[in-house]
Amino acid sequence: MRLQGKRIFITGAGGGIGRAAAEKCAAEGAAVICADLHAASAEATVAAIRDAGGKAVAVIGNLTHEAACAAMFAEGAAAFGGIDALFNNAGICAADDAGPVETPLATWDKTIAANLTSVFLCCKAGIPYLLEAGGGVIINNASIVALVGSAFPQIAYTAAKGGVLSMTRELAVMYARKKLRAVAICPGPTATPLVQAFMADEEAWKLRRRYLPMGRLGQPAEIANLVAFLASDEASFITGSAYTIDGGVTAAYVIDDSQT
Ligand SMILES: NC(=O)c1ccc[n+]([C@@H]2O[C@H](COP(=O)([O-])OP(=O)(O)OC[C@H]3O[C@@H](n4cnc5c(N)ncnc54)[C@H](O)[C@@H]3O)[C@@H](O)[C@H]2O)c1
Repeated sequence: MRLQGKRIFITGAGGGIGRAAAEKCAAEGAAVICADLHAASAEATVAAIRDAGGKAVAVIGNLTHEAACAAMFAEGAAAFGGIDALFNNAGICAADDAGPVETPLATWDKTIAANLTSVFLCCKAGIPYLLEAGGGVIINNASIVALVGSAFPQIAYTAAKGGVLSMTRELAVMYARKKLRAVAICPGPTATPLVQAFMADEEAWKLRRRYLPMGRLGQPAEIANLVAFLASDEASFITGSAYTIDGGVTAAYVIDDSQT
């Protein structure tokens, strides 16, 4: 139980990767604060954790709003007497996020708010609790699009994720002497509701699959394993780095997709 005694705040814990991370961290002994916009999905995660014998509470609100975000952290910290780790995971992908010429400004604004401003606000509200608990760790969920470009662009999402990665490095350097670590993860395409819309279309999936060396999407539980490790004391010398977890997508130059 590598997270015994830790209290972790997970944003977007009602969704695919967030829920898997919440369940994995709870199974490793952590008390989990499940933050989400949607009460029903956050509460479903809490129920699953409690059914398995773990500790969790739900805190509901919109993490793009400063006051709501601060209130969610206060409520979460009060539930377990503090916060030791923060997984900034909540995010969105808009269907009409495309190239810079096509993407509406409103889509850009909404995407930057949900994917980048929310991380800033969670750091603003959460870091005082982490420091009070003696340091701890911030894990930011970026994406492979923070590392490589794509000819199928989602310009606002990509820009937001690049910001998340840069912010991670700055946090790491700023707080290293205060024993607060900051790490980014960069997942490749993962089977969650976020990508379902793109993958539901047979033709779109066939096209996407050509760029996946393993020929499959990642599973949320595979990403959760990395999150649990990075949140643990086993990762005590890891800060400021980005962990790619993508089944080889960013390692590929040419893929042999002749095999099924
Ligand atoms: N699925 C992928 O292929 C993939 C790949 C790389 C990175 N990511 C990143 O992983 C993270 C999680 O994605 P997912 O695929 O699990 O998505 P998801 O849609 O399954 O879950 C996201 C969760 O975040 C919550 N959320 C969104 N905006 C919020 C807000 N303003 N306030 C509070 N909660 C909010 C949603 O309600 C949802 O429960 C995102 O940051 C995403 O960009 C996903």
